[in-house]
This record gives sequence, structure tokens and C-alpha cells, in this order.
Amino acid sequence: MQAVILVGGLGTRLRPITYDIPKALVPLRNKPFMGYTLDFLRGGGIEGAVLSLGYLPDPIQRYIDERGDLDGFSVEYAVEERPLGTAGGIKNAARFLQDGPVVVLNGDVLTGMDLRKAIELHRSTGALATITLTSVEDPTAYGLVEVDHDMMVRRFIEKPSPDEVTTNLVNAGVYVLEPEVLEMIPPGREVSIEREIFPRLQERRQLYAHVSSSYWKDIGTPRSYLAASHDVLSGAVGAGEGFDYMDVHRSTLIEKNVRILPPVSVAEGCEISAGATVGGRSSLGRGCRVGEGAVVEGSILLDGAVVEAGAVVRGSIVGPGARIGEGAIVRGLSVLGARCVVGEGNVLDQGIRINPGVVLQPRSVSF
Ligand code: GDD
Ligand code: MG
Repeated sequence: MQAVILVGGLGTRLRPITYDIPKALVPLRNKPFMGYTLDFLRGGGIEGAVLSLGYLPDPIQRYIDERGDLDGFSVEYAVEERPLGTAGGIKNAARFLQDGPVVVLNGDVLTGMDLRKAIELHRSTGALATITLTSVEDPTAYGLVEVDHDMMVRRFIEKPSPDEVTTNLVNAGVYVLEPEVLEMIPPGREVSIEREIFPRLQERRQLYAHVSSSYWKDIGTPRSYLAASHDVLSGAVGAGEGFDYMDVHRSTLIEKNVRILPPVSVAEGCEISAGATVGGRSSLGRGCRVGEGAVVEGSILLDGAVVEAGAVVRGSIVGPGARIGEGAIVRGLSVLGARCVVGEGNVLDQGIRINPGVVLQPRSVSF
């Protein structure tokens, strides 16, 4: 069986990171997200995928080309010129699909669910489409799904308002679709599978669901991306490592009195100066530098990020090549875009987002 991976979205909610890196390639434990997606599909017995691309397709294609270890797993690219939406993106991929059912996956979900079981259940009901559901605390950011006792979908409401919330079960973004569903998608325009196709299938009593209780997360916001990073580092999902996970590349330059706290992942070419503390579910991309006495905890530093002496980064995301000046404090889910400069002595907090390339003068922001 083949899969279509939807990876054409703009990643708006994960800006400023997604100005430079498509959501499908943001790293978790220094492995691009797409790597987890491919592992998930291959683990579920899928033989090949069509990537439904739109925004920033080139780095995604390059990642696949450079991986080169997909032995036998075929990858095709369907690139759209303008956004076609979630159903339009599937339609655009159809020319690469063989006849028969297909798995469709939102390219931003991290999950340990059993894909083989989903396919099996789909076959057993004979429905045109089967969607996997997961339980979340606040369904308003997702597609809410009401089901009957026999798991036929009774209602699908994309992004329900708080007063429409009747269940905690939402669309997990993993579907099995029969070819008839692809024929229902009008060609050449933007079509949302959640808003147009699922409600029509539901009316025809052709949409079934099953619930997965496995790990599941949509990494589309800074909060959920950082949480997924923490979860992968601490072994809640992925390779199954524990809280003692410590992967520090052998090229790392570590000066005296450095504290490395697991779980932590440090990629090639990093430098950690004397007295610094790095870890507590942090990951440092290639070529990062952490200055004397600086602290990096519970954070993601992307390639080439620099944290100067005495600075503190906690629970935040630092874009590629960004620089945090001496004694600055970056905490509380702050998100810094690529190459921005936080001058010394600034304090960033409360989910502040700094656009790529912005320079904050010393001591200009405090909370
Ligand atoms: N090719 C293509 N074209 N892909 C797209 C487009 C498009 O125009 N728009 C979005 N995508 C891709 C995104 O890149 C992402 O991987 C996936 O489709 C889902 O889009 P999101 O923008 O992340 O949607 P969402 O998270 O708000 O909601 C969706 O996912 C939830 C689960 O994570 C919906 O399917 C919800 O019903 C669902 O609960
Ligand atoms: Mg999403």
C-alpha cells in the first residue's frame, strides 16, 4: 500500500521557525520530523509515499535525496503551485497512486499508533474512508468527531467553537481512503478534506473511525513542538530511550566544569564553555556554541545558535544562527527566528516571538 503525506502547509502557527525551515523538517532530537513520519509509515508496512508539497518543497526533497537509506521505499513528489488544501493536495498526488486504498497522513503528527491495525479495521467495515481518532484536552484546535456505537461517524466539525464541544475525540490526521474518495474531490481548486469531503462521506454513512490510545501529538505550535521534543528525548515516543538518554557527538568541545544533564542531544561541532549547564531535555543542533557559565535547559537550539556567557535559555526555541547576548534571559516558550540577535541583558518571556534577522539592542526588552 502507498501513502500520501500532506506537507504543503505554511506552518503559520510555528512561525518564525517555519520562515526558514518547513514544519516537516523541524528537528526532534536532531532528526528532521520527516524522518519520524517515514519510520512510522515503513513500520506500518507501507511501501511508498507521495509527498504532497507546496511551501518550501526543495529542502524536503533534498532531505529525502540525501537520506538514501530508504531501501525499496519509493518517494514521489507532487508539488502544487498554489495551496490546494488538504483534499486538493491528495487529489494532486493521485497521478502517482496505484489503484486501491491509500493511507493519508498529516505531515505534522507524531504518533506511536498501530497503522496496520487501522488498515485492517478499514478493510473490515468496507467503508469508503476510515479515520483514526485520538483524545485531547481541548478539541477546538482540531477536527471534532462524534461516533455511533458501531464507530460510524455521526458528525465531523473542523475547529469547533467551545460550545460545540461534545466529546474529546478528534481527528488524528491518519486516514485510509478508497479510490472513490479521491474521485469525490473536485480538481483544480482548494478543497479541505475536513470541511468538504468528510461531512459528505458522513452524510452517505461511509465514514468510519477507530480510536487510538497511543502517543499522539500535532507539532504545529511552539508549545506542542517543544513538548514533542521533550517527549522524544525522554523516551515517551520514538526510539524508546529513557530519562538517561545522552547523545553528545564526539566532536563536541567541552571545557572544564561543564554540567551535561540528560536527556540531551548535542549534534556535531558544538562548543560548550567552562561552567556551562546544558541539558534537561534540550537538543543542540550542529555547530551551536554555549558560552561560559551559560545555561540551556529544556530548549531546542537549531543549527549554529549561540548562547553567550552567562545567558540563560529555558523552555524556549532558538532559530538557526540566532545569537543570545551575554547575561540575556530567554524563557517561557520564547521563539527566536533565524539569525536574530538578542543584545546583552534582555529578558524574553511569555511566548514572545522574534522574527528572523531582528536585532534587539542591549537591555531593550524586559518582562
Ligand atoms: N499539500 C498541501 N496543500 N498540504 C497542506 C495544505 C495545502 O494546501 N494545507 C495544509 N497542508 C498540510 C500541512 O502541512 C499539515 O501537514 C497537514 O496538511 C495538516 O494541516 P495543518 O494546518 O497542520 O492542520 P491542523 O493541524 O490545523 O488540523 C488538521 O490536523 C489535525 C490533527 O493534527 C485537521 O486535519 C484536523 O481535523 C486534525 O484534528
Ligand atoms: Mg497540524
